[in-house]
Amino acid sequence: MNQDTGKENIKIYKGHIVYTESPEKFNVQENGYIIVENNKVTLANSSIPEKYSHISVIDFGDKLIIPGFVDLHLHAPQFPNRGLGLDKELLPWLEEYTFPEEAKYSDMDYAKKVYSRVVEDLWRNGTTRSVVFASIHNESTSLLFDLFVESGLGAYVGKVNMDRNCPDILIEDTQQSIKDTREYIENHIGKSEIVKPIITPRFVPTCTVELMKELGKMAKEFNVPIQSHLSENTNEIKWVKELHPEHKDYASVYDCYGLFGQNPTIMAHCIHNTEEEVALMKDNEVFVAHCPYSNLNLSSGIMPVRYFLDKGINVGLGSDVSGGNKIAIFDVMAISAQISKIKWLETNKELAPLTTSEVFYLGTKGGGKFFGKVGSFEEGYEFDALVIDDSNLFGEGLTIEERIQRFIYTGDDRNIVERYVAGNKIEKPSFK
Ligand code: GUN
Ligand code: FE
Repeated sequence: MNQDTGKENIKIYKGHIVYTESPEKFNVQENGYIIVENNKVTLANSSIPEKYSHISVIDFGDKLIIPGFVDLHLHAPQFPNRGLGLDKELLPWLEEYTFPEEAKYSDMDYAKKVYSRVVEDLWRNGTTRSVVFASIHNESTSLLFDLFVESGLGAYVGKVNMDRNCPDILIEDTQQSIKDTREYIENHIGKSEIVKPIITPRFVPTCTVELMKELGKMAKEFNVPIQSHLSENTNEIKWVKELHPEHKDYASVYDCYGLFGQNPTIMAHCIHNTEEEVALMKDNEVFVAHCPYSNLNLSSGIMPVRYFLDKGINVGLGSDVSGGNKIAIFDVMAISAQISKIKWLETNKELAPLTTSEVFYLGTKGGGKFFGKVGSFEEGYEFDALVIDDSNLFGEGLTIEERIQRFIYTGDDRNIVERYVAGNKIEKPSFK
């Protein structure tokens, strides 16, 4: 019987199934089945219950089936700057490379060219959900939003706010920034089930108190999430102290204006936080986007991921293009594990290194939690999946778990042969 007949929307996929219900270990079903009903997983198991025997199986043979990757932090307009200026620290890098590039996105032709490539690259690298900074420009930010919708990939897309301490080519008038943000949210909220707006103050040094206050109110009014940067660089932290002596720390500034977990919030970097700030993150259920490539490139530091995990804080991975030079989350997984070993040595072996299953968890279910039930194959999860053909990676004689380890450390986008988001197969975008 054809699986699409009648009202049934049931699909069954067969292959070597790998996911992480919890960070400690991989869940593996060799030659297993995933049953997807109405785009959600109902079962991942070694056999199919009798009641599904009429459904034909989509058989991926010796390939691996894993959850789609989640990027909790990247800057789409910085894509043309990948690899450039990375011998600088954060603040000079922003001034000399980042702001001049982001200023170009008032030009819709340029924006179309770059943003099409960004969405295509996310697709190519198996990033099925991402949380994205655009720029201050409403029109091109809306274009990016629409390109995501057209592609079928999931995303939160933010129009950036910045109204102080910025160059003339990239600064907003406070009232205009508030008006544009309201318009952007009103125009896009409810447009798509999987692509949504997010409030995006760039970071405290570039946002006035008046702007932050209004953005906090808007987050509440429209019930939309929030993203920003926190404690990435020591000069940045010093600057925030100078700008806001009335607050005890950096996190408290966001918190005071309703931008720190009052609605679901992601803070990128979080390298140099105080214990009190970390406690506030825990209380307010703030997500942290761990962006190791960027943190290395801009000499920002090594985030103590283990410390955050031990405290029970939500952590996911971010490519942070273009502070980060790689967009692929499997690359971010590998470098996260690698630098955690340096952190272990640096802390006199106090903060244990991250295991491969832990970094896989961070890049799937850890970040996926920001989207709801995303990033795993447990019952009720949205079926976001990748099919991995690792036949060129010398997998003979390896266990399935060893094959996933090898893919994370040595694979690339050519190993990803199919992508699914919320149950739908996603083809390569072909933007007109
Ligand atoms: N802090 C404020 N803006 C940025 C940015 O664009 N990239 C990074 N890495 N940090 C920031
Ligand atoms: Fe960033």
